[in-house]
Amino acid sequence: LSSIRVDVSGVDAGTQLTVKWRGKPVFIRRRTAEEVTAARETPLSDLVDTNARNANLPSEAEATDVNRALSPDGAEGEAAEEWLVMMGVCTHLGCVPLGNAGDFGGWFCPCHGSHYDTAGRIRKGPAPQNLPVPVARFDGESEIVLG
Ligand code: FES
Repeated sequence: LSSIRVDVSGVDAGTQLTVKWRGKPVFIRRRTAEEVTAARETPLSDLVDTNARNANLPSEAEATDVNRALSPDGAEGEAAEEWLVMMGVCTHLGCVPLGNAGDFGGWFCPCHGSHYDTAGRIRKGPAPQNLPVPVARFDGESEIVLG
């Protein structure tokens, strides 16, 4: 299956880029420090789905923020924590969630009211799973390869 490369050098903190890959939207979000802190401070016991749902990790990996985020090559500190790449497809019935929305400051799916947090983890509503992280990696500091 095909891979695509996405230049993320123009994405500012607090915004996201949506690209289409294999016919589906993929959200590439550059999070603010506050969004990262909120995600990192959430205990696993508060989560609906404690699985990372990250295709780049073993299937049993836990849904910590570290296990959901993607780091640029050689990045440290904040720069290593801010990027989140995930499928923009609600795990309930497949609508596209809205960014910067919902009770947890992440995404909100308007179809039936699912709220995802700033790590894309389901927190409230009918969706059963976290938004899945696809096979992805950074190539250098500003290019992401999907697939
Ligand atoms: Fe998202 Fe139903 S499809 S809440």
